[in-house]
Amino acid sequence: MKFFVDTADINEIRELAAMGILDGVTTNPSLVLKANRPFKEIIKEICEVVDGPVSAEVAATDYETIMKQAHILRKIADNVTIKVPLTWDGLKACKALSSDGTMVNVTLCFSAPQALLAAKAGATFISPFIGRLDDSGIDGMELIQDIRTIYDNYSDFSTEILAASIRGVNHVKDAAKAGADVATVPPAVLKSLVKHPLTDKGLELFVADWAKTGQTIE
Ligand code: E4P
Repeated sequence: MKFFVDTADINEIRELAAMGILDGVTTNPSLVLKANRPFKEIIKEICEVVDGPVSAEVAATDYETIMKQAHILRKIADNVTIKVPLTWDGLKACKALSSDGTMVNVTLCFSAPQALLAAKAGATFISPFIGRLDDSGIDGMELIQDIRTIYDNYSDFSTEILAASIRGVNHVKDAAKAGADVATVPPAVLKSLVKHPLTDKGLELFVADWAKTGQTIE
């Protein structure tokens, strides 16, 4: 499974990229608002740090303006992935952009039929939102499983399942078990993957016992 980080915070991205665990980045308008910096500048900077796909979301909803914005954004760097909403106009733009060799991430996916349409439109990534479905009382992980089954039924689909709206370590684990190709994870959740209370407890004991040996490693 590939790990993308879901943030527009360049400092967080730098830290994770230096660890070598980052395969890409996703951003969205809400994350850009939080970063409070010029959008194109953020994307350019991220693309200088990360070689993998960097999703930059269009801010328009009609086909013409989506395409206009996509042309501007994709000029920033070769690894820019244009993120379009899962609407009729978004899918039209997906088809046009992917036919042109541009990577496209179709976002705000909440159903398997939507994911089927995105694959037909040539999406590079489909982003099903697990956490937001869970919040509304629908099992988000079931959607990942359904999309995996459907995509595997058709060998001509190359769209990767990008599990999005991830809230915790269990979402990452279950998305991997369900066969998601990518998980886009907030920095705090990505860092929390390392945590286990028995690791902390075990380390505490080893550190204490080592001190009792009175030895040093030099
Ligand atoms: C995906 O690309 C989105 O940016 C993101 O995962 C949305 O997550 P949220 O539901 O926590 O806002």
